[in-house]
Amino acid sequence: AQGGSIAPALQSAPAVGAGDAPTLTILYGSQTGNAKGLAAQCQAKAEEAGFNSKLVSMADYKPRNLKSETHVAVFVSTHGEGDAPDDAIELHEFLAGKKAPKLANTKYAVVGLGDSSYEFFCQTGKDFDERLGKLGGKAIIERLDCDVDYEAEAQAWLAKLIESLKEDFSAAPQTAVAAQTGAAVQGVAAQTYTKKAPFKATLIESQKITGRDSIKDIRHIEISLEDSGITYQPGDALGVWFKNAPSLVSELISILSLNGDAEVTVGDATMSLTDALTSKLELTLSYPNFIKSYQAATGSETLATLMEDKAQLRTYMAERQIIDIARDHPGKISEQQLVEALRPLTPRLYSIASSQAEVEEEVHLTVAHVDYEAFGHRHQGGASGFLCEYLEENGEVDVFVENNDNFRLPADPNTPVIMVGPGTGIAPFRSFMQERDVQGAEGKNWLFFGNPHFTQDFLYQVEWQGYVKEGLLDKITLAFSRDQEEKVYVQHRLLEHGKEVYEWLEQGAHFYVCGDAMHMAKDVENALITIVQEHGGKSEADAKAYIVELRKAKRYQKDVY
Ligand code: 2AM
Repeated sequence: AQGGSIAPALQSAPAVGAGDAPTLTILYGSQTGNAKGLAAQCQAKAEEAGFNSKLVSMADYKPRNLKSETHVAVFVSTHGEGDAPDDAIELHEFLAGKKAPKLANTKYAVVGLGDSSYEFFCQTGKDFDERLGKLGGKAIIERLDCDVDYEAEAQAWLAKLIESLKEDFSAAPQTAVAAQTGAAVQGVAAQTYTKKAPFKATLIESQKITGRDSIKDIRHIEISLEDSGITYQPGDALGVWFKNAPSLVSELISILSLNGDAEVTVGDATMSLTDALTSKLELTLSYPNFIKSYQAATGSETLATLMEDKAQLRTYMAERQIIDIARDHPGKISEQQLVEALRPLTPRLYSIASSQAEVEEEVHLTVAHVDYEAFGHRHQGGASGFLCEYLEENGEVDVFVENNDNFRLPADPNTPVIMVGPGTGIAPFRSFMQERDVQGAEGKNWLFFGNPHFTQDFLYQVEWQGYVKEGLLDKITLAFSRDQEEKVYVQHRLLEHGKEVYEWLEQGAHFYVCGDAMHMAKDVENALITIVQEHGGKSEADAKAYIVELRKAKRYQKDVY
């Protein structure tokens, strides 16, 4: 019952004498690591129970092997408008296509990960569930859709899965399995500080790097990791736990006529309402479950009416933070009810803008300070407001590293790279260039950067000029969108330089995109297709296939948000 090609480090030890003992194949598709983390926990539990198992990234899995699997557990996240993460795209499409096999002998279970404030919540997980079922697979247990705060539910689901598998796996040998545990778990869980047990880091400095007249407030932030032993690689992200602004917390308490000193229970802990709202609960986004619970508690009729029209509710929520909803629909709610209506605060991930080869025990971020007026009040982003406004020099911030194996420099320092990073999307490329500089990498480097104005928004200008002068950065191509009548974006610049971009790709260049997922990343991908058509003399279909091959070869990688 061995099927599936998997990464060597995670390969199951051959089950000596296992006969037809089944194997639980655990597949993950993950943009930020959450799905991968759960998949690894699933494997640990399977092994504890003495099951044969293997843990495989969907990117390394041959879809055709599915038909020989007996038991499959899928952990997959969803992005943007219901999109599959990059490493899941191939398998996701394969299952919907003509070549998808009959899965009469396969049992499966699916966990989707997502964010319920988005319309297409857990869509990719839903797709996998539906497609595996349609192909004849039997669901072992019902799919779990994980919202941003999923730990407890996920643990319960994993326990249930293991319980449900016991009958099928009762004959599996324990010894053969034990041998593989070390390698598999180590591969995904080497970091000592984690989301749940973060490192208390200190802020070294926070400096505004956009000009006085810029429409943007972008900060360069340096954080000390001294004595933590934390390591990270170019391409990784830093998870930042933040606190809600004191002014926001006190205002919300006052609008709802609550007592900030009242004792409330959050999870297993008891604390004051002020403390709960400051460090435990999400206030700077809004989400459907809050609206439901808040409406139920206050009995607000205006909210009830609003909830009847889903599209209208979505628009309403997209523009508002929790405090706006309270202002618009004030009503009577108790301290404990408010706490229960709110979702637990979750850390934010920022693409790291430094390389340890250069900065050693520091980590740098490029943060856009979300700060705007709306409905007659000032609004700030949760994490960006904390980092840019409330965190003082030497102040403490809880952080952890989130590995991102889907965004890595080429292993060979001679390989050329093309980097497309408008706005704060520049961050990981600063890390890439620091790394390549210290490495003495010989591969060519080409950076595409864009922002509104040259004089105000040319982030890290002096550093890029230094790299150009020293010969590290071979080309830098700029798109200042508002310096002329017509908008000019990075994708336009790519098209203008299409011939050379294609030449670089043909020379084996890796192509990286970081930044806005909604528009930029899609427009850049379309530009890439056009370039391959025009300069490679290919049909649209062949150009698209060329891009798919690039992605499969990990030469086209995205870090988009
Ligand atoms: P704009 O705000 O002037 O329209 C970084 O945020 C840069 O990305 C800005 O110059 C912004 O331009 C630009 N930008 C906005 N929409 C974009 C899109 N669809 N494609 C590429 N760049 C875009």
